[in-house]
Amino acid sequence: MGTPPYTVRRSRQQMVVDVRQGLSRSPKQLSPKYFYDERGSELFEEITQLPEYYLTRAERSLLEQRISQIISTVRPCSLVELGAGSATKTRIILDEMRTSGCAECYVPVDVSKDFLEATALQLRTDYADVQIIPVVSDITEPFELPPSASPTLVAFLGSTIGNFPRAQAVRLLSHIASEMGSSDRFLLGADLIKDPAIINRAYNDSRGVTAAFNLNILERLNRELGADFPVADYEHRAFYSSEQHRVEMHLIARRAHKVTIPEIGEISFEKGESIRTELSYKYDRPTLEDILTASGLLLEKWMPADDNSFALALARAEG
Ligand code: SAH
Ligand code: AVI
Repeated sequence: MGTPPYTVRRSRQQMVVDVRQGLSRSPKQLSPKYFYDERGSELFEEITQLPEYYLTRAERSLLEQRISQIISTVRPCSLVELGAGSATKTRIILDEMRTSGCAECYVPVDVSKDFLEATALQLRTDYADVQIIPVVSDITEPFELPPSASPTLVAFLGSTIGNFPRAQAVRLLSHIASEMGSSDRFLLGADLIKDPAIINRAYNDSRGVTAAFNLNILERLNRELGADFPVADYEHRAFYSSEQHRVEMHLIARRAHKVTIPEIGEISFEKGESIRTELSYKYDRPTLEDILTASGLLLEKWMPADDNSFALALARAEG
């Protein structure tokens, strides 16, 4: 169990099950975790550099401002990171841990296997004194973490929490809380409710990178499952709902057609029909505090950006 071929086979079977379920629903949907094959992870990296995508810049600047205070309070020797991606901002945390004298272990957890391995390889070069233990796992399922030196700081950055509706977020965070000891802390990065125009621009960038990221999910199904989605006949749609405090991302079929996915069968799409590919919730402090509390986590420190665009939250597990 757990050898790379097993992991690959199991995740492919899971993908077939998820895609079959998602595309037989009405309205149709696909899980955002399928954005992140190697191409999708690269496109996400491009998104983080876009002038319109304020989230990454806001979080990086907050981390730079707050990290010395966070590390001197928590004094972690290990860092676990959920949905680590390229771990670019993580370096701010690792550098501060090193400066303060304890940086034994870094455990990046991510579903994107090849990208995670590339991240780990680069970090091993740049942080030769830190043990780097990548874990390929779907964080929406219960997953095991390797033993690591305590205290542990568990980071969940980038507002990836926002891609999970409340019940799923609570399930995920409850699992994290149950794994945390009394000296461990949870560091969450979350995008905040703001002017809808700013949010809409972030998910409809002028260079079309977000559109390419969205459409790549269909290209991935064509590549990996041998599906025949006519990708050029789909368009990217993303909009912010001020009532639900979330961005919805969709792919809209420009014409009626049928798609064959060999292990699933034939699926019909009407002209104008949508596949929902992502939700991205935006928060205020009470909503996030409510999610943390429901997960068995107690908010210790709320750290909003000066312009209230983004926030970091530090929490401990309820004793
Ligand atoms: N933390 C980074 C990357 C955010 S992009 C940042 O702040 O920039 C979201 C990351 O979460 C991707 O690397 C993606 O592969 C990962 N991810 C998405 N859904 C996941 C899931 N269900 N399980 C594990 N990782 C997931
Ligand atoms: C990873 N996640 C928090 C990003 C978001 O903003 O919801 C993914 C993304 N989707 C479109 N652009 C970026």
